[in-house]
Amino acid sequence: MKAPRVHGPIRRLVTMAGVAAKHGRKPSVEDLSVIDDAAIAVDADGNVRWIGEARHLPASLGMARAPVDELWFPGWVDCHTHFLFAGSRAHDFARRSTGMSYAEVARAGGGILSTVRATREASEDELLALGRERLAAFARRGVAVVEGKTGYALALDSELRCLDAYRKLDGHEGVEVLATFLPAHAVPPEYRGRKSEYVDELCARWIGTVGERRLARFADVFVEDGYFDLDDARRIGVAAKAAGLGLKIHADQFHDAGATALAVELGATSVDHGDHASAAAIATLADSETVAVMLPAASLYAGTPFPPARKFLDAGAIVALSTDFNPGTSPTTNLPLVTTLGCTQLKMTVPEALAAVTFAAAKALGLSATHGSLEVGKKFVATAFTVPTVDDVPASFGEITARIVR
Ligand code: NIG
Ligand code: FE
Repeated sequence: MKAPRVHGPIRRLVTMAGVAAKHGRKPSVEDLSVIDDAAIAVDADGNVRWIGEARHLPASLGMARAPVDELWFPGWVDCHTHFLFAGSRAHDFARRSTGMSYAEVARAGGGILSTVRATREASEDELLALGRERLAAFARRGVAVVEGKTGYALALDSELRCLDAYRKLDGHEGVEVLATFLPAHAVPPEYRGRKSEYVDELCARWIGTVGERRLARFADVFVEDGYFDLDDARRIGVAAKAAGLGLKIHADQFHDAGATALAVELGATSVDHGDHASAAAIATLADSETVAVMLPAASLYAGTPFPPARKFLDAGAIVALSTDFNPGTSPTTNLPLVTTLGCTQLKMTVPEALAAVTFAAAKALGLSATHGSLEVGKKFVATAFTVPTVDDVPASFGEITARIVR
């Protein structure tokens, strides 16, 4: 067998092994499973062969002789973003600053459909250039894996073009890209007033096409007044399953529509936002494998209430944090800042916030068998910061950069 590549001694390594052992539920400080003066041996196939204190590294695997004065984590995962779009929504922001709500701004000609216009007009090269720029920004903040949703094209050919762009962007700056198909983000202008015909078309043709060509891992649906309702979400969930796609749902962001409970019932991999999820829905979710993805930067930027992460965590749910990077409600790629908001606004502990951007976020993408913790047999990918302690990361208020190690 080829000799493994050895990293270390690494000043401090957070493996998240304890978090993984508890499947991401109720993470404590011990569960971070920190090793000081650590070494990692990586096989030729990129998987971890050995991990532990450098002084215990078996000589047969090599020597740890390249000291790294850094704090290493399992590669950070941003599990909910909409990072491929063109145009600006600064005018929406300005209108909200006068007191208009998200829904009122959308009705006044802004909102998702204004980004759809700009995205449809952009050339493929322009979209790819924007995507590359954004991946560089994610990488600088330590994001090693990012999910990207469609939903700013809303015509089959242009949605497929976005999925193809995500595929081309995969690996840029060392960031893995996973695509989610979100044609149910808004009713496109061509189907204005004919929402159910649009959903018919999605279920009869679009979702099947994407599943067959394996262009996305997940389908997603925005359940909200004026967008899609529970019946639409159920139909889309069933079609996604038949097409071999996993399911994610944008649920209960601006009010309780009962979408969190539906997501659990449909076996969704994650339910995202959940700002207004009911106590009953939280209890049901906590008993399931569905991950609750909390997006506090979207609440901060949209000026809406923060999600009840504490209730999800105390009930025993698996809770992830993500940027929700998108032009309308969260134009930030700063995942470290999101961990700060997790602690200050969602009242998460530091270990809960750090587990939420590693193991739980990997689980929200169906990747927890390979990502989210650094353990023997898992893929080797690390996010390295130069700060001394785990507390420094959320305490930095986003004023922190990282490098991705593969
Ligand atoms: O996650 N809620 C729907 N999607 C985005 C917002 C999209 C937009 O306003 O462009 C979100 O917040
Ligand atoms: Fe979103």
